[in-house]
Amino acid sequence: MSTRDITVTVNGAAHRHAVEPRLLLSDFLRGTLGLTGTHVGCEHGVCGACTVLLDGDSMRACLMFAVQADGCRVDTVESLGRIGQLNPLQQSFHEHHALQCGFCTPGMLMTATDLLKKYPLATDDEIREGLSGNLCRCTGYQHIVAAIRAVVKERA
Ligand code: FES
Ligand code: FES
Repeated sequence: MSTRDITVTVNGAAHRHAVEPRLLLSDFLRGTLGLTGTHVGCEHGVCGACTVLLDGDSMRACLMFAVQADGCRVDTVESLGRIGQLNPLQQSFHEHHALQCGFCTPGMLMTATDLLKKYPLATDDEIREGLSGNLCRCTGYQHIVAAIRAVVKERA
């Protein structure tokens, strides 16, 4: 199988790899780079679990090939914070019980990160609209909206 050399800046670090053209960006992040914070649910662009930022905009990593990210910047959930050093959005998810099983959470956090960058003072309607492409089987969404609303309030 032929490969192609790509260079992708992931969470601030440049990675150069030879990849098969058919390799999905989600598999590149998880399998090649070991960044398993990006979850894979449907692999059809429906659930949003695989959401990352591509050059600053939210993007489903299961709908892109890694070669399409050549020369791009990708930020995954690992870029936000870490245990003991959660960023304000992660902390708010924690405080508002915005997750149960946590499977959807990386995608929710990355979608919300993009949303809050574009709409720093997002209304509840804008928050709900912004999250409408991310599925959660557990929470009923109310606590996720509350967590994001709290970050907006803090900023305001
Ligand atoms: S795994 Fe990508 S949208 Fe579901
Ligand atoms: S917390 Fe389980 S799917 Fe959202």
